[in-house]
Amino acid sequence: MIEVNGIRKRYGDFVAVDDVSFSAGAGEVIGFLGPNGAGKTTTMRILTGFLPATDGTASIAGHDIHKAPLEARRATGYLPESPPVYPEMEVRSYLTYVSKLKDVPRAKRREAVDRALERCGLTDVDRRPIGQLSKGYRQRVGIAQAIVHEPQVLILDEPTVGLDPNQILEIRELLASLAASKDGETGHTIVLSTHILAEVEALCRRVILIRQGKKVLDQPLDEITRDGGSLEAVFARLTLRGDVGDEVASGSDAETGAEG
Ligand SMILES: Nc1ncnc2c1ncn2[C@@H]1O[C@H](COP(=O)(O)OP(=O)(O)O)[C@@H](O)[C@H]1O
Ligand SMILES: [Mg+2]
Repeated sequence: MIEVNGIRKRYGDFVAVDDVSFSAGAGEVIGFLGPNGAGKTTTMRILTGFLPATDGTASIAGHDIHKAPLEARRATGYLPESPPVYPEMEVRSYLTYVSKLKDVPRAKRREAVDRALERCGLTDVDRRPIGQLSKGYRQRVGIAQAIVHEPQVLILDEPTVGLDPNQILEIRELLASLAASKDGETGHTIVLSTHILAEVEALCRRVILIRQGKKVLDQPLDEITRDGGSLEAVFARLTLRGDVGDEVASGSDAETGAEG
């Protein structure tokens, strides 16, 4: 469903994403982890067509992101790190607007919006201006806009950042329902970035860890946690400065610590 081959992104001399490859099967939920500044958002922006890669290729649902960008984007729902804000807009109007942008045929828009509202628990607030909602509900709106055109793939960039513990659990349940197969159909294929490792343990079957733009781990979660291992320990071991030796990119501290 997702194939990523040797994606690289340079900003001048700085390599933000360095030869990252991975794949995800239909219905697979992948935890995309790494310290701040590792290159997660950059990778996600490339996969969703918002940023050109310097090198490498990728395909979403069989559509090459460079050769068939429209088809690839149609197959993808994206919750960006900082979603665009339309505080005055009512939830329903906003989702209808997004469904137009995503080429949902006019005759199907209402049904598509109703379905997204329902799946995200927004039906009761559909006429409320987005700016009046709590942050947890605004994040649900962000997820609703990602699923409104029924994409097979969801790319979610830190969907629970800034939420309180109850809101985090609610979003986690929502993501679990999107991942689950329903009416005999495979659930969404999801790439999820987060710093909440419990979220990964609850939702993801596989973990990809990047550090300084390079992939340093790609492993099923059950292998990681077998024999009492913890994701926390693996994260610390692979990302604390100086521990992976040759795998570390050669950027200076000044460059690589920019956002850290
Ligand atoms: N437009 C840009 N120009 C230069 N450097 C950038 C730009 N965008 C991101 N970076 C750098 O690329 C690295 C990866 O950033 P990002 O993908 O946002 O990491 P993450 O999402 O893992 O925190 C960081 O060091 C960041 O400062
Ligand atoms: Mg980021």
